[in-house]
Amino acid sequence: MRGLAGKTAVVTGGAQGLGEAIVRRLSEEGCDVWLLDRSESGADTAQGIAAETGHPVRFERIDLADAGQIAALAERWKQDGVHPAVLVNNAAAFVFKGVEATSADWDRILDVNVKGTSALTGAVVPLMKAAGGGSIVNLSSVSGFVGQRQFATYNATKFALRGLTKCWAYDLAPDGIRVNAVCPGYIRTEAFEKSCELLGIDPAEEDARVSKLHMLGRQGRAEEVAGAVAFLASDDASFVTGSDLMVDGGLYGNLSNGRINGAVKSYSTASRGPPETAASRRSTTQKKLSPRLRRGGQLFTSTQACGTHFVIRPSSTHSTT
Ligand SMILES: NC(=O)c1ccc[n+]([C@@H]2O[C@H](COP(=O)([O-])OP(=O)(O)OC[C@H]3O[C@@H](n4cnc5c(N)ncnc54)[C@H](O)[C@@H]3O)[C@@H](O)[C@H]2O)c1
Repeated sequence: MRGLAGKTAVVTGGAQGLGEAIVRRLSEEGCDVWLLDRSESGADTAQGIAAETGHPVRFERIDLADAGQIAALAERWKQDGVHPAVLVNNAAAFVFKGVEATSADWDRILDVNVKGTSALTGAVVPLMKAAGGGSIVNLSSVSGFVGQRQFATYNATKFALRGLTKCWAYDLAPDGIRVNAVCPGYIRTEAFEKSCELLGIDPAEEDARVSKLHMLGRQGRAEEVAGAVAFLASDDASFVTGSDLMVDGGLYGNLSNGRINGAVKSYSTASRGPPETAASRRSTTQKKLSPRLRRGGQLFTSTQACGTHFVIRPSSTHSTT
């Protein structure tokens, strides 16, 4: 990608998952990367990637929910003359609640996904301006476009990130700073394997099920999201700002998702018979799920603008998009 070599990049939540792949890709492109994470394991991740690529990767342990830590880090960067030209807001807290969400639930997710992201961006922007401009990439999701049952808290933050992206793109354009969102579909990371383990379901079976939701017939890979982030961070995207880049294998645009739980069937049979009831819809849905999945966790269906997909939500884990 053009224009990345030698630039300083900051990636939040880089200890694992998509963040780790983004750190690796930016490092491969020749960036000096700051890996920010609240998990101490970020130190090993940073060391490993630096050894692979030969470019510096520095780990900074930070909790994005703590505004004081962000301010202190920004002050240190200012003193040390660190001028990030790339900021990737990838870290996220995961809280999945509907209307029953408490004030504490909202604090937990908003403090990281919205307030923390905003505080870090606010702290980095003056340093980025001093670097002569740059690129900010926010990790939203397909969940930033659709409703998912019992996902209100998470999806609200992913919608918010898209809103912040567009407003910041407007505000920062005069300073030569572009701001874009990347919106992944299902990406197969460690979290997927862990979810399957916790649910007692076969990863291969679950992979086959969610793969069908994507036009490309498979889940994404972390490197594929990282490639999109690198593109938006680079000069190859010099005329791209305020945009949402779907990296979802066609999930969002996949009308055939509706076949899975009858949403499209309900529409197409409307003129030929009585409307589908909630009970008949539930029954169709349950029949189409394997018994294992029904046992594995609480089932939620989520009707999208043009389709439906399932989320299995046990008490202690999650499946995200
Ligand atoms: N994995 C997917 O399928 C998927 C799909 C769509 C969008 N996304 C988005 O991509 C991003 C990364 O997802 P992931 O699956 O790699 O998640 P993950 O849980 O594997 O990694 C998140 C990282 O963020 C760090 N983190 C969490 N809270 C933090 C805090 N308060 N301060 C600092 N670091 C913190 C964690 O320690 C972890 O290293 C998220 O924004 C997520 O919403 C993921």
